[in-house]
Amino acid sequence: MLIAIDGPAASGKGTLARRLAVHFRLPHLDTGLLYRAVGAQCLVRGLLADETASADIARALNTDALNPDTLRTADIGEAASVVAARPAVRAALLELQRQFAAQTGGAVLDGRDIGTVICPQADAKLFVTATPEVRAQRRFRELEGRGEATSFGAVLEDIRKRDARDSGRASAPLVQAADAVTLDTTALGIEEAFAAALAQVQARAGR
Ligand code: DC
Repeated sequence: MLIAIDGPAASGKGTLARRLAVHFRLPHLDTGLLYRAVGAQCLVRGLLADETASADIARALNTDALNPDTLRTADIGEAASVVAARPAVRAALLELQRQFAAQTGGAVLDGRDIGTVICPQADAKLFVTATPEVRAQRRFRELEGRGEATSFGAVLEDIRKRDARDSGRASAPLVQAADAVTLDTTALGIEEAFAAALAQVQARAGR
């Protein structure tokens, strides 16, 4: 079974994807980490403005070394959003995502363009969303918990900026696939959101 989960930053899609993968015993790929890894390398090498260099970095990416703990910072999220708007970077990361999705037995992938571009054939597609304020609150707590100094206002502004860039870009923008089910997690706790996601996937996949 192939499950595609898309949605904006801090919507809860990553947590739901992980939980669904455990439930169905499927491999899971957080595709945001790929863009974050490219963004991080661009930052370290001072090459964020260089489109050609970012695509070269994407082509040479070692996917065995993706560390969520070091890649989930606000600065790297911002850099990821910048490189993710570049068609050459997206093209460089396309095939490895499709190969991951093609594993025998299926997989769970989460990102921005999984249901629309990477896996249009997915058995179940969820579009996970929540208000910018609630998403900012979640991201703020997460960053605070990791000791990153920031303010709620700054996080909200960052979320709005990323929404605009991820939805407004020409190449594979964040849009809901026509056959995706919307899951609004604004008023849901994690257990409620997971129960709703599971019910949708089971209904879609006929299990
Ligand atoms: O989900 P995330 O915050 O870790 O993603 C980081 C950035 O990567 C996000 O701002 C947009 C980009 N991204 C993308 O363009 N396509 C994907 N499939 C996943 C992430």
